[in-house]
Amino acid sequence: MRHIASRHGGILVIAHRGASAEAPEGTRAAIRLALRYRADMIELDVQMTRDRRLVIFHDDRLERTTDGRGRLGMRRYAELARLEAGAWFAPRFSGERILLASQALSLIPPPRRINLELKRTARRRALIRQLVRRVRGTRTAGRVLISSFDAGLLGRVKAAAPRLARALLCRDRPRRALRRAIRLQCRAFHPHVSLVSPSLVADAHAAGLRVHAWTVDDPQEARRLARMGIDGLFTNVPARIRAALSRIPR
Ligand code: G3P
Ligand code: MG
Repeated sequence: MRHIASRHGGILVIAHRGASAEAPEGTRAAIRLALRYRADMIELDVQMTRDRRLVIFHDDRLERTTDGRGRLGMRRYAELARLEAGAWFAPRFSGERILLASQALSLIPPPRRINLELKRTARRRALIRQLVRRVRGTRTAGRVLISSFDAGLLGRVKAAAPRLARALLCRDRPRRALRRAIRLQCRAFHPHVSLVSPSLVADAHAAGLRVHAWTVDDPQEARRLARMGIDGLFTNVPARIRAALSRIPR
């Protein structure tokens, strides 16, 4: 994945689950809104259905963001495709559906980039096989960044498709995670925002990794991270963060 200078002082604005403060997360509506707000990258969570289709979905269970019940991984795609995935957010989004990963990839045109976050799964091999197929099938490999909290899963992605860019996510023990990310030859490191420090950013940069922090909705915090040399910010409010960063010379 090429690093392109963004319009926001060099810092990527990454729409977290799409523009998820204003539209139901992970849906077509959230992706379209993120594109309208000119997010540089869109982050989407990926899971596999019982019949091995890759879908965009964050939770293990269906209740919070659909009218379905139970665990997503236990259901076939045909059942999931009928669920209402927008009305929980606001009535005007009713009719939104759970997206296939391939549909989501096709919705995001160049030069926008896509971060697919792989959620943990016991079916790693099948997940990766499907992932590689979908990315190749949609010709998005050069614009996709694959991330996960699961270093073992990323190791398998590396073995299956060494040229797909990878990023390790981290919610604690950032030094240990950074060492792992370096060993996995990741393109980027994705720490929780509370873990970011100037020295962590400097050490990641020294090892050739970019640092993208999650999740930042506050303009002041965005500017503070910009001063630390951050390379990208995940945000639920891409328009607000883009505006905040555009005022920073870097
Ligand atoms: O990829 C950054 C962030 O999405 C990780 O946490 O729970 O929002 O998927 P989560
Ligand atoms: Mg995520």
